[in-house]
Amino acid sequence: MILLIFTCSGCGNRHPEMKEALHVGVVTYTQGDPFINAMTDKLKENLKSMETEDMKIIVSVKNGKDDQQAQNETVEEMIDAGCDVLCINLVDRTVPSRIIKLAKQNHIPVIFFNREPVREDLLQWEELYYVGCDAEQSGIMEGEIAADYIKDHPEVDKNQDGKIQYVLLEGEAGHQDTISRTDYSVKTLIEEGVQLEKLSYQFADWNRGQAENRMTRLISQYEDGIELVISNNDEMALGAVEAYRKSEYVPSKWPVIFGIDGLDSALEAVKSGEMQGTVYNDKEEQALEMARLSLEIFRGENVYRNQLKEGRYYVSQYQRVDSSNVDDFLKH
Ligand code: GAL
Ligand code: CA
Repeated sequence: MILLIFTCSGCGNRHPEMKEALHVGVVTYTQGDPFINAMTDKLKENLKSMETEDMKIIVSVKNGKDDQQAQNETVEEMIDAGCDVLCINLVDRTVPSRIIKLAKQNHIPVIFFNREPVREDLLQWEELYYVGCDAEQSGIMEGEIAADYIKDHPEVDKNQDGKIQYVLLEGEAGHQDTISRTDYSVKTLIEEGVQLEKLSYQFADWNRGQAENRMTRLISQYEDGIELVISNNDEMALGAVEAYRKSEYVPSKWPVIFGIDGLDSALEAVKSGEMQGTVYNDKEEQALEMARLSLEIFRGENVYRNQLKEGRYYVSQYQRVDSSNVDDFLKH
């Protein structure tokens, strides 16, 4: 009885020290992805900056350990611990059904990000959202920057056979960005009139170390015959740079190397000439949108939600980066 009175005396608006609290649970697919970690840090910063005198915002970030089952369990724990909104970066974007079911049962809206569930899944409940990009756009832009560079620099064709011998580094199999970036970067180069000769496609799971290993092997196989490296992201492009740094070849014998994301280290590489271009994946904007949506959902408001495509999709725009504008991005 005493306890009950004590507990109740702590609630209600008469006590200014008792703030309303928004709990946001964020679960990424892995621990070791620099792009995702940078975006999650921004998300935390944004949410913290949205705290007000009478509303506290509590953010917990966990990762799914590259295992969908483990991620499902983490989501369940977060729901049990009491969260208001979930931001989920799926391990396997094709199987969100367990998370959707749990969220729906407990009435916790979900903002999926970066790893896009298929449309039918996102339509399963009206409180499911997606914040990400149009993967096709990044592939087209990467192809355009590479084509422009090659047309302006005939020396890229090192053996002067009229064809560009190329290698493609792919992200995770089945990821929407891997599929579209691979497809559209190459298609765009061809449409732009660049004659290509494919040497090898290698999966390296978005990962710098794996890409370095693959590239080291390709260098020993093709020697200085590789003229272009197209990478599905910057981390793998930087893995290729690393492989060339450790190789016997001087930079004038290196291929041109293109990535996607616009991570700081890749922007530095574009500036120093070790990479020729990247495509900016606007993590700041995506993080801000997720923070705004989380708050709005909690407050039952609709300003940002009304601007979503089909009421659920936020599509951030990619931007082309090469040596001519890299300084604008380094200032970010
Ligand atoms: C992509 C990004 C990659 C990787 C991946 C993870 O959008 O370009 O670097 O972070 O998402 O899902
Ligand atoms: Ca050639």
